[in-house]
Amino acid sequence: MTAAAPTGLDGDACVDSASRHPAEWPPVTSSELWTRATADRYDAEEAEAFSAAVLGPAVAFLAELAGDGRALEFAIGTGRVGVPLRERGVRVVGIELSEHMAAVLRRKVDEDTLPVVILRRTSRSSASATPHGI
Ligand SMILES: C[S@@+](CC[C@H](N)C(=O)[O-])C[C@H]1O[C@@H](n2cnc3c(N)ncnc32)[C@H](O)[C@@H]1O
Repeated sequence: MTAAAPTGLDGDACVDSASRHPAEWPPVTSSELWTRATADRYDAEEAEAFSAAVLGPAVAFLAELAGDGRALEFAIGTGRVGVPLRERGVRVVGIELSEHMAAVLRRKVDEDTLPVVILRRTSRSSASATPHGI
């Protein structure tokens, strides 16, 4: 008899850490927390955060701050901030742990226009990244 793999609320595979001591928790990647299902519904669920009332002032402020320079957005997700900032002419590079969140961003803008480095966690203490000129 084999135990069923644990799944999250949305049915995606996830890591069952609840019954273990924290020291025994296996490494969890962001793609296991921000799953494909979570990523696919993120924009709709966060509609208020995507509204012009919220994003307008934030993006205007960041564009002024960037000036002629570039912007590096840590945890860019589906591009809620980075995409409109890029549309305002700021060259943006993103860093993201969840390939699923980055995939949603990629439906909005191509790699040449807004490169995203997807970090790949390989152990508790190390990560590797695909370089994109940063
Ligand atoms: C709440 S979402 C926010 C996404 C976006 N910044 C926004 O404002 O809509 C959090 C994001 O941070 C990413 N993230 C969490 N820890 C990270 C890390 N150490 N490096 C890169 N991305 C990370 C997650 O994968 C997820 O996409």
